[in-house]
Amino acid sequence: MFFYAHSGLRYLVLLAGVLAIAYFAFGLATKRPFDKGGRILGAAFAGTLHLQVLLGILVLVTRFYYPALIGHIVMMVLAAGTAQATSSINRRKPQPGYALPLVGAVLAILFIVGGIMAISRGVFTTTAM
Ligand code: HEM
Repeated sequence: MFFYAHSGLRYLVLLAGVLAIAYFAFGLATKRPFDKGGRILGAAFAGTLHLQVLLGILVLVTRFYYPALIGHIVMMVLAAGTAQATSSINRRKPQPGYALPLVGAVLAILFIVGGIMAISRGVFTTTAM
């Protein structure tokens, strides 16, 4: 059950990431001040990513382990850490902007794609078992 939840939640994480990137890029291009929309989308992306990490740990302890999972786990921890750190640092700046959260979200998505590929899955494929 955790496996199916973990497998399905990826789409929500990816959607939140793509929406956040689009919003941050638009804000940066139009030089708008960082606003509530940016905060909400950044928090939604980091939040779903953390929930996915939690589910991943539950999958880990309820399924069999194999060495390639290390690559998956390291990449995903990096993804969650990058998304969270860039958004927290940005929030504490006297003048929060879009550049830092944009870099953080793009890096996090790249780590996520790498982490999925580390266990020989495609971003949109599954091995339902
Ligand atoms: C530290 C965090 C994480 C841990 C411990 C973890 C652990 C796992 C485990 C044990 C599996 C099962 C592998 C298998 O049975 O072959 C798995 C599969 C998977 N994980 Fe994670 N995961 C983590 C984070 C993430 C994140 C952040 C995402 C995506 C946003 C993600 C996406 C996936 C996908 C797509 C699969 C394959 C599902 C399928 O084949 O249908 N994982 N993960």
